[in-house]
Amino acid sequence: MSKRFKESNLEGHSGLHFNTAATAEPDVPPALKESNKLSATSMGENSIPSFKAADLVVRPSSRPKAKQPTFSFGTAFTDHMLSIEWTLSEGWQTPLIRPLGSLSLHPACSALHYGIQLFEGLKAYRGDDNRVRIFRPMLNMSRMARSARRACLPAFDQSELLECIRRLVELDQDWVPHTASHSLYIRPTFISTESSLGIKKPTCALLYVIMCQAGSYFNDEAEPVSLWADPKYTRAWKGGTGDCKMGGNYGGALLAQHEAMDYGCQQVLWLHGGDHQITEAGSMNIFLHWINEDGEEELATPPLDGIILPGITRQSILELTSKWGGFKATERYLTMGQLCTALKQQRVKEMFGSGTACMICPIGRVFYQGETLRIPSSRQEISSRLTSRIAKALTDIQLGRARSDWTFLV
Ligand SMILES: Cc1ncc(COP(=O)(O)O)c(C=O)c1O
Repeated sequence: MSKRFKESNLEGHSGLHFNTAATAEPDVPPALKESNKLSATSMGENSIPSFKAADLVVRPSSRPKAKQPTFSFGTAFTDHMLSIEWTLSEGWQTPLIRPLGSLSLHPACSALHYGIQLFEGLKAYRGDDNRVRIFRPMLNMSRMARSARRACLPAFDQSELLECIRRLVELDQDWVPHTASHSLYIRPTFISTESSLGIKKPTCALLYVIMCQAGSYFNDEAEPVSLWADPKYTRAWKGGTGDCKMGGNYGGALLAQHEAMDYGCQQVLWLHGGDHQITEAGSMNIFLHWINEDGEEELATPPLDGIILPGITRQSILELTSKWGGFKATERYLTMGQLCTALKQQRVKEMFGSGTACMICPIGRVFYQGETLRIPSSRQEISSRLTSRIAKALTDIQLGRARSDWTFLV
């Protein structure tokens, strides 16, 4: 088993392994170089039939685009994309990096009809030393593999895919913004290309990766977001696909998002069950920093019980803060009733969302059962907020200011 594959297993998503070595430990460059190496087997060492990064064919664009300073998310795509085809009869084909271009799909394609598809989202950052780093990419690779299993799409060697992505980022590295607050967003996508209307396990599929520039949503001066909490809509349910990154989870959330806006809120606070459990905010995991019912200072987030997307930022925050001391970092259920009581008793310090897109997003108010609940974080000095401390710790790692084995050098 390759070293990096082992690391990806270490960085599993249970969220219970807070004491893994993966915090701001000194990142020894040779170790990173070592982790940038690929296994040379096409089967991977865990016997998964897979494509090989060593076979990658690169067809560079003859007309690279002018790089505009446009940071509107998801609009400025880089010059190249990675694509890898799979068929049941022939297995994985040679990975190809080619100029970004349209796909040609049969109109019966089952990704379009039945949502047999999934995606990932991760970022590459240009550090103060001008080197490009990807943040904890093996966690995205393993989450992608879990989503693929859930979607009946074929398995692949996660290390081989990461090396193909590294080569893509390397080729388009000029697109990685030079400003610390911006980054390159990497969007691996995996779709069934089955061209028949029968609902069945795909016999052909396409894995592709596109990239675009992204701004940072987090800014110390940023207004905290407002959330609409109503049990009328459900994002995920036990036995469903809410813990996987499958497109249907997001398309299905759009109407609720628009209703939240009708109530003057920016995002949905997703509730679950008769006791109105707090689960996620928009497409972010959620954290509550408070004095709990036992009088303890706690940073709490709901457990990964099948209805929560196992966020890489969530996992990183739990792993970081559990080592800081001064408060407990806990995975536990939180209900709207508990939040309301804690607000009345002035036990709430901060509430925030976490995710690759925004990193940390403070929550300012929640509209629930006809009332606006104000989250008191804005009364604190910015510098004394936990959100500021976490954002700084993560940014320092992402930009190479703090040495860490959480970054993967391109
Ligand atoms: C539903 C949902 N929750 C949480 C997250 C945060 O996950 P991550 O920190 O890996 O970006 C995302 C984003 O991927 C998401 O789509």
